Amino acid sequence: MAGERNTTEDDITAEVLQGFGQTPEPRLRQIMLGLIGRLHAFVKEVNLTEAEWFQAIEILTKAGHMSDDKRQEFILFSDTLGVSMVVDLLSHPKPDGATESTVFGPFHRLNAPEMPAGGNIAHLDKKGPPTLVSGRVLDLEGRPIAGALLDVWQAQTSGLYDSQDPNLHEMHMRGKFHTDAEGRYLLRTVRPVHYPIPSDGPVGAMLRATGRHPWRPAHIHFVVSAEGFEPVTTHIFDSADEYLASDAVFAVKESLICDFARHDTAEGEARRLAIEPPYYTTEFDFRLKPASEQETANVLDAQRRLAALGSR
Ligand code: BEZ
Ligand code: FE
Repeated sequence: MAGERNTTEDDITAEVLQGFGQTPEPRLRQIMLGLIGRLHAFVKEVNLTEAEWFQAIEILTKAGHMSDDKRQEFILFSDTLGVSMVVDLLSHPKPDGATESTVFGPFHRLNAPEMPAGGNIAHLDKKGPPTLVSGRVLDLEGRPIAGALLDVWQAQTSGLYDSQDPNLHEMHMRGKFHTDAEGRYLLRTVRPVHYPIPSDGPVGAMLRATGRHPWRPAHIHFVVSAEGFEPVTTHIFDSADEYLASDAVFAVKESLICDFARHDTAEGEARRLAIEPPYYTTEFDFRLKPASEQETANVLDAQRRLAALGSR
C-alpha cells in the first residue's frame, strides 16, 4: 500500500525464522533456526554480492560432482575448515589422562587384515625405513586391557593411501592387532611421511586462494577399542615433522606427538623380527575411558557411515 515502508533484509530473515519456527521435532527446529539466523547474519555482515553467491553455488556443485565412492569432497571441506575437529571434541570429550581423539579422515577401510603381534602392515613398501610401534592399552587407572583391538592405517612412503594408488589392487598399510595379557601391542610399518590431502578439487582451490598448504604432518591412524571402553579414533604424529604446527586439517594435539628413535644395530624385537638396521622405534600407550554402549555404538556407526560415504 502506498506510504508503507519497503521490505528490508531483516524482514526477510524474520519471516524465514517464523516459517521454520513451526518445525515439529525440537532438535531439528533448534538446528534449523540456529543455522538460518547465522547464515542470514553472515550474508549481511560480509554484504555478500550476487556474483559471490553464484560462486558459492558453483563451488558446492563442483564438490557434489566430484564426490563418489572414492572421493568425499564435503568431508574434506569439513576437515579443512576445522569443523570435523570441533564436532569430534563435542562428541567425544575425554577426561584428563585419556588418549585424545582426532580426525577420522576419509581413508579408513573396513575389514583390514588381522595381524599377529609384530605383523608388518607395510610389506609392499620397500622405500620407507622399517619402524616398530609398540606400547600398551590401559584403563584410566593404568591397568592393562588385554584383547583390545587396534585398527591401524597409514599412507605409503609415496604419500598415497592404498585406495588412492592406481597401481594397487589390494589392501596395504592396514591391519588389526590385539593386545596381549599385559595390554601390549607391537606392529611393524615404515616411518610415516607427510603427504598432501587431495587438492585437485574445490577444497584445493580454497586452500590456494587463502594461502594455505594441503600438507598433513606424518602420522599413523588408530581406532583402539575394547569391551566396556569408549573406542578412540586418533593418530600418533612424528615429532620431527615440519608440518606439525600447520596441519591442513588442524588435527594435531600435543599429547599425540611421539619421538621416533633411530637404531643402527638390531636389538630386541627388531633382531627377533630380522629387521635390518637402520630402523626406527616409537612407543605410545593408549588410555581408554569407560563407555556406555551408546557411546561405543556411536563410534562404530560413524565408521560405517563414513565407509558408506566413500572412504571404502
Ligand atoms: C587423513 O589423515 O587420512 C586425512 C584426514 C583429513 C583429510 C584428508 C586426509
Ligand atoms: Fe592420514
